[in-house]
Amino acid sequence: MLRTLLCSERIGPVAGTVTITADAQHHMDKFIIRGGNRLSGSVAVSGAKNASLALMPATLLADGVCRLENTPRLRDITTMSTLLETMGVEVRHPGTIIELDTSNIRSYEAPYDLVKKMRASFYVLGPLLGRFGYAKVSYPGGCAWGPRPVDLHLKAMQKLGAEIEIEAGYVIAKADRLRGADISFDISSVGATGNALMAAVLAKGTTVIRNAATEPEITQLALFLQRMGAHIDGIGGNCLVIEGVETLHSANDKNIPDRIEAGTYLAAAAATGGEVRLERVDPSQLTVVLSKFREAGCEIETGEDHVTLRAPERLEAVNVTTAIYPGFPTDMQAQWMAMMAVAQGSTVVTDTVYFDRFNHVPELQRLGAHIDVTKNTAVIHGLDRLTGATVMSTDLRASASLLIAGLVAKGNTEVLRVYHIDRGYEAIELKLRDLGADIQRVDSEEY
Ligand code: EPZ
Repeated sequence: MLRTLLCSERIGPVAGTVTITADAQHHMDKFIIRGGNRLSGSVAVSGAKNASLALMPATLLADGVCRLENTPRLRDITTMSTLLETMGVEVRHPGTIIELDTSNIRSYEAPYDLVKKMRASFYVLGPLLGRFGYAKVSYPGGCAWGPRPVDLHLKAMQKLGAEIEIEAGYVIAKADRLRGADISFDISSVGATGNALMAAVLAKGTTVIRNAATEPEITQLALFLQRMGAHIDGIGGNCLVIEGVETLHSANDKNIPDRIEAGTYLAAAAATGGEVRLERVDPSQLTVVLSKFREAGCEIETGEDHVTLRAPERLEAVNVTTAIYPGFPTDMQAQWMAMMAVAQGSTVVTDTVYFDRFNHVPELQRLGAHIDVTKNTAVIHGLDRLTGATVMSTDLRASASLLIAGLVAKGNTEVLRVYHIDRGYEAIELKLRDLGADIQRVDSEEY
């Protein structure tokens, strides 16, 4: 069974000795994977990273202590905790419950060195502006695969009556009190919807958010805000109506499962020809993804909170085009590509959410994958096998795809800079080992 996450097992300097150290995973660890094992067994899915990263800043909207259950132990959660602590929030994270005490907020700033590590830090803008009328948040940089603007976030704040200035790389937002507005997003944006929602709940009057994101993580945020006393209608749909209130109160919540972590383990099982049962998962969040696995020849069985996948001898090539929820998630694109690298036939993968999210392609090609990319479309020609090599993680989901490819590649694969993967996958090498993978985390001297 999965050990408590307070320790991570690592191979010491002398191969073979195992030292148990505290949770501080080294920044430049690497994974060594010996490919060829079929995955089998069951694995528990952790709480949704992208829900927690919205629920935690939402607690800024009220005074008191909020307890959020099923909060995954990830680097991104640690980064968000650190950011909130710099504002005066007291954060405790015993096990998978996170407790946030927002009784002594003393700063309304999100500094560059934290925002540059994680774009989701920008989520503090809405709650700070909504409750305190002031926020100074560093402009998030791009990310590994290109620019990721925040223009929709800023337009929404301005519609709600905020004055926005950009000064030395910081967004400075001010408002005596936000006023309800009719906000219509040109494109559906998870982050902009989250920020607009958190700003609107304390605004004076009614706010309508049209073309709102309907990702389960946004639905979870809206339900949590309701528990805090917010008045929100249309939850789950793409038109949200918010009646502003004078104050909110702290509340507790239990986070939803991480649908992308779940899809990633399904992809690993499918690629290795295995049979895996996922526990603590919500199949209703994965309908399109599960239908794609079925098209690829996998037998899928679902229950209230589990999914079982039985892979065929050889996967069929199945095209995917990413889309906003409930379409095929862009966060599953890289993992699907790794699977299709060993499928029967050629696959076309198109990403319509991010047009340049293909940093994993050159690394997959180092493992022998035959992939051609034109603009935001990749064609993957399935091969009988991949061959192990040393590869470099570049971003969270790209590193997941490299792990999947390493699990099927012949021989050893070394995946460097796995701090990317520690951002969004809780104890991934322990969970994969429990499923029969030959994978070790090693302190890496090489960079
Ligand atoms: C969220 O990012 C997720 N992150 C991402 O997951 C995910 O890939 C993305 O949604 C799409 O589903 C979190 O929830 C913390 P968007 P977000 O705003 O909110 C454009 C992971 O791997 N856009 O929905 O930043 C943007 O460039 C991460 O867990 C603007 O043009 O994504 C993109 O093309 C990676 N202007 C599209 O909208 C804006 O102001 C969708 O982005 C905002 C976004």
